[in-house]
Amino acid sequence: APVSRIRNFCIIAHIDHGKSTLADRLLQETGTVAARDMQAQFLDNMELERERGITIKLQAARMEYTAADGDNYILNLIDTPGHVDFSYEVSRSLQACEGALLVVDASQGVEAQTLANVYLALENDLEIIPVLNKIDLPGADPERIGREIEEIIGLDISNAIHCSAKTGMGVPQILQSIVDRVPAPADRVEEPLRALIFDSYYDPYRGVIVYFRVISGRLAKKDKVLLMASKKTYELDEVGIMAPDQRQVQELHAGEVGYFSASIKAVADARVGDTITLAANPASEPLPGYTEAKPMVFCGLFPTDADQYPDLREALDKLKLSDAALKFEPETSSAMGFGFRCGFLGLLHMEIVQERLEREYDLDLIVTAPSVIYQVNMIDGSIMMVDNPATLPEPQARASIAEPYVKLEIYAPNSYNGALMELCQERRGAFIDMKYITTDRVALHYEMPLAEVVTDFFDQMKSRTKGYASMEYSLIGYRENFLVRLDVLINGEKADPLTTIIHRDKAYNVGKALVEKLKELIPRQQFKIPLQASIGSRIVASESISAIRKDVLAKCYGGDISRKKKLLQKQAKGKKRMKAMGKVDVPQEAFMAVLKLN
Ligand code: GTP
Repeated sequence: APVSRIRNFCIIAHIDHGKSTLADRLLQETGTVAARDMQAQFLDNMELERERGITIKLQAARMEYTAADGDNYILNLIDTPGHVDFSYEVSRSLQACEGALLVVDASQGVEAQTLANVYLALENDLEIIPVLNKIDLPGADPERIGREIEEIIGLDISNAIHCSAKTGMGVPQILQSIVDRVPAPADRVEEPLRALIFDSYYDPYRGVIVYFRVISGRLAKKDKVLLMASKKTYELDEVGIMAPDQRQVQELHAGEVGYFSASIKAVADARVGDTITLAANPASEPLPGYTEAKPMVFCGLFPTDADQYPDLREALDKLKLSDAALKFEPETSSAMGFGFRCGFLGLLHMEIVQERLEREYDLDLIVTAPSVIYQVNMIDGSIMMVDNPATLPEPQARASIAEPYVKLEIYAPNSYNGALMELCQERRGAFIDMKYITTDRVALHYEMPLAEVVTDFFDQMKSRTKGYASMEYSLIGYRENFLVRLDVLINGEKADPLTTIIHRDKAYNVGKALVEKLKELIPRQQFKIPLQASIGSRIVASESISAIRKDVLAKCYGGDISRKKKLLQKQAKGKKRMKAMGKVDVPQEAFMAVLKLN
């Protein structure tokens, strides 16, 4: 297609505002996917992804559309992941587009995630088309929400489109305005090849499938390409488009969106944001904005059964092929035996990996509480980065500790101001400002240690606002604080995996709450178990779990036999997730106890 007939766009929306439903509608309206295939093909695909807990990976779809002027256009929809853990991927997807549909639920209004992505889109000079969705709902108030968009973002909403992705109303207008309002790509077909990788996935048969947008030049099957950041060269086995199934084509040129395969072994070799050029005639400069996604949250992964260690290694190696951001290295702990210290983009990423290891690789894992990376300034002038609290050097050796900080934005109805400010206060947040964005909705800004956000902040925020608040955060650098290492001793032995790094002012209370929580979580055993929390050699809290009494077991016998069986089965299930530390069986929940303190 000539460049003037191409439109590349994405959809920006808050979770549940209707992005997937609208995308499906667009595919259906343009005949890209027939209505009757819809269920089977697209939705199912997504369900699978959703079931796996991964952001929907529609990735990209090419549609053909006949506009009002009778001309045929190619519309490429490029997906953006909807979670803050993946905001770098979002920025690359936006860079591949000239326009964006801003979808806002007309009964809900603007949310933090939406705003963050709108600002990213504006930075990338994208044309933004406001779409007020769900106008079929009785609670929809498109006029009011439209004003909100105008006030908050400063967008002209005089030509916002009212739509219902459910009934299909407004969908034809959306297609026409993509043609009318989104600029065509720049015509740079005759320049050297530069194409942007905005996504990739691992296919066990063909190797990595790379999704890209051609910015200038052209590329074809059999071309030898150079990936400018990874500095690797490959010969293209396949070049094609997503229509929406992969379909091979001869060549793709500037402005077009497609995929290639080139027997690439791991997604880490074709990273999002990298620039594709021709090995024989390379571009002089890569496209701007490439950075390597860095893990921010770390935890220990240990097999409950030590024999599964080799399986865990193999599973992590395999996952790594399809997950460039996952980091891991062997970790040995006297308490836990052999395992791995793993790094993730954020908490969601961590949960996805853990879930996949357990479900797809059938492993039983003990996961230790997440930690951030601390920067430790040593007395001797050196700097040590610590991602495992148990390895924090002794106080005599260190001069100070700095921790990562984030800028946090929360959007909520103003009736929750008090509850939210209290929560932020508890989490060592420094108040920056509060703005009324409408008469009854506010934006709260705080600066807060990342460590306080990656623990269950999000869940707390949701539960204290009945789900009405939304949040967004970005890293702003390291700051020194008076931090200490809080150790836990179980039965007199130091339990490394339970060690945390914490602010001095909180250490006493957390130590106390932690041993109380452990007392609840660790089952009674045949002997009495002392539990202690200490800072250095000073014990700050202690509790003990009394020994099991023989007659408790005895009582179980004699009752209904099937009930007893059930009880035993239940116990057996619980046992699977235990790790013996010293002589004490510690269940999985205990390792996360520090996240669940009151
Ligand atoms: P994530 O996939 O979680 O990011 O959400 P999303 O933004 O893709 O939203 P999705 O399309 O899954 O829609 C969320 C819910 O809203 C679903 O239950 C949809 O059926 C519903 N929905 C979407 N559009 C409309 C609409 O126009 N009207 C009504 N009444 N419901 C809608």
